[in-house]
Amino acid sequence: MRAVSANLFALLLLCALACVFYVWSALESRVERQQRGFSAPGGPSLQRGLPADLSAKTFRVLLAVPAAQKPHLGGRPKADSLSGQAVGSRGNHVNGDKKRSARREGPVQSGSPVEDGIFWSEWLEDLLPVGFTEEHCRAWRERARAHRIVKLEPGCGRISNQLATFADGSRACVRYGINADQVQGEALTYYLATLLGITNLPPLVLSQPSANSEQWAGVRPQIEGLQWSDRAVVSLTEWVSNLTGVVTPALLRQEGSGLHPVPAELWNKTTAELLELMQWTDLIIFDYLTANFDRLVSNLFSRQWDSRVMERDTNNLLRTPRGDLVFIDNEAGLVHGFRVLNMWEKYHSTVLSSVCVLRKRTGERVAELHRRRDARKRLLELYRDSEPLSLQLGFLSDEHADILQDRIDRLYKHILHCKEKYSQF
Ligand SMILES: Nc1ncnc2c1ncn2[C@@H]1O[C@H](COP(=O)(O)OP(=O)(O)OP(=O)(O)O)[C@@H](O)[C@H]1O
Ligand SMILES: *[C@@H]1O[C@H](CO)[C@@H](O)[C@H](O)[C@H]1NC(C)=O
Ligand SMILES: *[C@@H]1O[C@H](CO)[C@@H](O)[C@H](O)[C@H]1NC(C)=O
Ligand SMILES: [Mg+2]
Repeated sequence: MRAVSANLFALLLLCALACVFYVWSALESRVERQQRGFSAPGGPSLQRGLPADLSAKTFRVLLAVPAAQKPHLGGRPKADSLSGQAVGSRGNHVNGDKKRSARREGPVQSGSPVEDGIFWSEWLEDLLPVGFTEEHCRAWRERARAHRIVKLEPGCGRISNQLATFADGSRACVRYGINADQVQGEALTYYLATLLGITNLPPLVLSQPSANSEQWAGVRPQIEGLQWSDRAVVSLTEWVSNLTGVVTPALLRQEGSGLHPVPAELWNKTTAELLELMQWTDLIIFDYLTANFDRLVSNLFSRQWDSRVMERDTNNLLRTPRGDLVFIDNEAGLVHGFRVLNMWEKYHSTVLSSVCVLRKRTGERVAELHRRRDARKRLLELYRDSEPLSLQLGFLSDEHADILQDRIDRLYKHILHCKEKYSQF
């Protein structure tokens, strides 16, 4: 009898543990994404997707696609395209770029890296050319709506996403969200970046590969193989060649000091390091506003069981050979990020509060959105005017629009706090 009840107790304990684990997993959308992406229809595949030894695996690894399905960076086709020129396509900047790269190498010579207390100095701003320029994005978006798609193949992450080739040879990553939330998040995040003047996101358009679409007619059999729903709206973002991974700078890791406008942290950095940090401050502000946990924050979260995670590449962040950061895969932003805010907010606010240096233009745009309290209106207008499929895909709920405005206001307060604290420098 004793033995039986001991066994029963052990069984109960196991069940309880399984339950706890299951609930935790359900909180995390990437598991859900993977399940839906790889399980046979109708059959949950939690065990199949998860390695047995949790302690040794990072959050990231747990949620990543199985290795065999993951295209290798080096294995991707090499051909260049408009994306070859993408970030560097400012023809008349060539000479400027040479001068810039010469100046990037050495240590700081041009004086203080910050001015007016908390802003990156103008001489640094002058050394960092605009990432994806407005003109470049406009032209790419026009082409991406007009050209027929002639090829679809793996090469943009998980298998539901595809690398598309247009008739002119240029390429795009097609993201087929698990649900409309993710495509909406990706698109609205792109337009919010435009409002903020953050130019690290590749240009994006929405598209509908439905049966009667001329543009997609050439890849109809592949689409059927992928089992994309006929009415789905997908996002296309410019594919950029020669990108490499980016490790989070030491100051911004949780054990780092953060980024403050003080000599001990910034004055002995090289110009190249400062230019990268400058882009990171935009990244942190942007991911805070959009509550995107799927970049720096998910890495910080993984430290709980993987102490070395910060020594590896940051999720969903890449770098061009010239040193521009490229923020890819923003589908966790705004919609999904706001839905799971309870779970991640602690990390979002910790990261934000560790940074007290920012780009002047970003600060100005945030102040304006704060003052006018019109984030919802302006985002909606831009989205509606730029995106023919906006009505179909929908916009932020009122609740989420309020959350966005609230985050702008919090960010603004944080900037004021930094100003007060560091204005004496
Ligand atoms: N715009 C782009 N230009 C070039 N390569 C890209 C682009 N977008 C994605 N990739 C490549 O595809 C990989 C995965 O992209 P993405 O993050 O969008 O997909 P994912 O399914 O979320 O994959 P992961 O789980 O690795 O994040 C990137 O690491 C990069 O190598
Ligand atoms: C990408 O790398 C290849 C091989 O190193 C090189 O030939 C090509 O010019 C690079 N393209 C860009 C846009 O830097
Ligand atoms: C800058 O100074 C800090 C602390 O004073 C030191 O830890 C860091 O290694 C220095 N960095 C460089 C590039 O010299
Ligand atoms: Mg990703």
